[in-house]
Amino acid sequence: MEELKRTIKEKGKIVGTEIIKVDSFLNHQVDVELMDKIGIEFANKFRDKNITKVITIESSGIAPATMTAFHLKVPLLILKKSTSRILNDNTLQTKVHSFTKNIDYELTVSKEYIKEDDRILFIDDFLANGAAALGAKQLIDMKKAELIGIGIVIEKSFQDGRKKLEDGGLDVYSLARISKIENGEICFKD
Ligand code: G4P
Repeated sequence: MEELKRTIKEKGKIVGTEIIKVDSFLNHQVDVELMDKIGIEFANKFRDKNITKVITIESSGIAPATMTAFHLKVPLLILKKSTSRILNDNTLQTKVHSFTKNIDYELTVSKEYIKEDDRILFIDDFLANGAAALGAKQLIDMKKAELIGIGIVIEKSFQDGRKKLEDGGLDVYSLARISKIENGEICFKD
């Protein structure tokens, strides 16, 4: 998506060799017109897949996932990050390790919001190591629903998230794929 790539180049701030801060349009302040276009792009890509629900993880996935769900006219489900294990009959949890932030959290959802016949599209802001998406898949699998596709706004292709997801048979569609960060410049794949 050319407009997204342009915005990343113009407004993204490189931190070290692996992190791009996108606080001015995605992670802190949100460019809602760009989010709308992102939502249309994901919706068009997955429109013929009979998606019944869009799922994301709090917090930065919410903006692009909201617009995608809006354009697909399906509900949005936001998975929560909990610091502790909740033991009750209504909740499903799985542990996720974020390599980027070096923290563990319990990805949490109420059982009632994922049904066996759900066909789910997972949307997130970044794909780095794939742990978040794989955690979401585990929760979806626990309810025997189906993860139909994964939509990513910014993929860091120099990390192994895509490979892990594709090795698991998942369909990954990324709007901007960063191949490397070199000499202070963000380089895209293609
Ligand atoms: P993974 O989901 O692909 O496994 O990646 P990993 O655990 O390594 O990193 C997950 C968290 O780090 C996510 O935030 C993700 O958005 C963020 N992240 C990874 N790489 C970058 C980057 O280059 N730039 C920015 N800005 N963020 C990055 P999170 O823990 O889900 O927090 P939130 O921001 O959604 O609340």
